[in-house]
Amino acid sequence: MGAATKAGYADVLVGLQYGDEGKARVVDHLAAGYDVIARFNGGANAGHTIATPDGPLRLRQVPSGVLHPGVALYIGSGCVVGLQQLAAEIAMLAAQGIRLDGRLTISDRCALVQPRHVLADRRDGARIGTTGNGIGPCYADLAARMQGSERVAFQLRDLLCDDSRVFEQMTRLAGRDGDDGDDIAAMVDGMRRAWTAIRPFVTDDAVALLRRVEAGARVLFEGAQSVMLDVVHGVQPWVTSSHTLPAYAYVGGDLPCRYHRKTIGVAKAIVSRVGGGPLSTELGGPRSEAYCAAAALAGRGRADEAASHDPLALLAEGDAFATGVAIRMLANEYGTGTGRPRRVGLLDVAQLRLAIQQAGVDEVYLNKCDSLAAFAHTPEHCIPVVVGEAGGAGQRVLRFPAFGAHAIPTGDASPLPAQLEALLEWLAQAIGRPLRGIGLGPERAQMRLLEPNQHTTP
Ligand code: IMP
Repeated sequence: MGAATKAGYADVLVGLQYGDEGKARVVDHLAAGYDVIARFNGGANAGHTIATPDGPLRLRQVPSGVLHPGVALYIGSGCVVGLQQLAAEIAMLAAQGIRLDGRLTISDRCALVQPRHVLADRRDGARIGTTGNGIGPCYADLAARMQGSERVAFQLRDLLCDDSRVFEQMTRLAGRDGDDGDDIAAMVDGMRRAWTAIRPFVTDDAVALLRRVEAGARVLFEGAQSVMLDVVHGVQPWVTSSHTLPAYAYVGGDLPCRYHRKTIGVAKAIVSRVGGGPLSTELGGPRSEAYCAAAALAGRGRADEAASHDPLALLAEGDAFATGVAIRMLANEYGTGTGRPRRVGLLDVAQLRLAIQQAGVDEVYLNKCDSLAAFAHTPEHCIPVVVGEAGGAGQRVLRFPAFGAHAIPTGDASPLPAQLEALLEWLAQAIGRPLRGIGLGPERAQMRLLEPNQHTTP
């Protein structure tokens, strides 16, 4: 008899701020060390971008391990599926030579985003700035189950059983909400076509992932959104509709929690938020929030700001709102899926510390350290970082010496600017967790791993 196979394990990676922390590039970076990359929450509301030599790869539902051919991909039951968007994403990847046959598995317990969900989200979600993908109404129907005598929630397994009945029922339900019949018919037709492309990837095996782990597979769960947008622990109503905390990976990812090994957190050196809700360190405060909300409604984004402003001139003004616009432009802080300008704020260390504590994070990656170079162009010539509880008497700004963009190393061998080293050393102590890597630009080669040493390991 051969030796017993050693079981594998799972790590969970989550965003620690308000989404858009650059989780996908960290997943892409770590993927070679895992056998499976799995999603456990959310749906097409996630916008995950990986920079490749052929330009940015934008993913919404497919896990960010796609660029590693040997790595399997799993979409767990905690996710909701937009059939058309997922089929389009699979086709887009195939057009780039990335075939998912045999690599991608989707749980048949995933709930199905219906036309009525998308239409309701577009109608009502604008007030809180949702992404308009029908995610909230879909999770709501899953919990509601019935309306009168009719089922309102469907999972992929209902499609496996009797797809014609589900598509008919979906059309009828959407018609009841008073939406345009032609629109609904077109959406359902699109879903029917998409379903033929998705069907081969769907499994009815509730322990598909568990089997792999028992056979030794190493899994990385990739969180969507962020712990601050959790439906329960974030600030209602400005949250997403799923559970984003790492423990939920073992519910929505279909694996017993006994296989958990460690939790990885991803943060950014400046913060950003799309949609409404508290952002206590926002540059320009309520003015920035109102400006970004109006721009999102009017469809104004990157191109409009680039045409109207010179970021270096804005930074020289020394005004907080202008600094926020400039950092958005220089750090490219526009929504991946929606193109909306993101609200930009200073690094909030108390928020980060609390998120790390609540999510039980073991180690941290800090993206967009290069964007701090913008502060070299401000009149104060220093990097402001906020410490102390939001709104509390102890909240204050600490100022660190600035460094210019020219000081950011291009190769792996060159040293980091001393000012950045000092800031990272201080931050690791302040958050009480080691910094394992930093982002110095969006490209793959611009991710710098940090050796465990006394500077970045508290
Ligand atoms: P929903 O998830 O589309 O319902 O949107 C609810 C809130 O979560 C809105 O403020 C969205 O902007 C935000 N949100 C959802 N997905 C993401 C994401 O991937 N990155 C950043 N914010 C997100």
